[in-house]
Amino acid sequence: MAKSQISLTVNGKTVEALVEPRTLLIHFLREQLGLTGPHIGCETSHCGACTVDLDGKSVKSCTVFAVQASGADIRTIEGMAAADGSLHMLQEAFREMHGLQCGFCTPGMITRAYRLLQENPNPTEDEIRMGISGNLCRCTGYQNIVKAIQYAAAKMSGVPFREAAE
Ligand code: FES
Ligand code: FES
Repeated sequence: MAKSQISLTVNGKTVEALVEPRTLLIHFLREQLGLTGPHIGCETSHCGACTVDLDGKSVKSCTVFAVQASGADIRTIEGMAAADGSLHMLQEAFREMHGLQCGFCTPGMITRAYRLLQENPNPTEDEIRMGISGNLCRCTGYQNIVKAIQYAAAKMSGVPFREAAE
């Protein structure tokens, strides 16, 4: 099959590649770039495990062809930590608040939470639950994920974190 040339930015680096027109962005990221943080849970746009940040929006990368992402600026979970390896506050928060168990949903969940907090730095619990409603978790029951996002929001806004009563 004829391949198309694409050029995009992934985690701050310019990437040039040849892709088949049928290649999904998630497969391009995982198989051609070796970025295996974004996971494949369903490939039918239900689970959110493949979520990446694309031009300032949370996008399920199994719903986009790689050729459609040409010219885009993409951030995956691999691009969340600082260059010196220090974790993003959301990553710290998921660790501190036990926001993961098996970890399968976590890259998509953190990437989604990143955009949620960019759009709304101080979300209510309901806004967090609505904001992550496109990301499924089979393990945690969501409570600690919500708590982790509340914790990160507080730390990033410089306000004290007060744990809500369960
Ligand atoms: S793998 Fe993309 S939404 Fe499930
Ligand atoms: S921690 Fe296992 S699916 Fe979310």
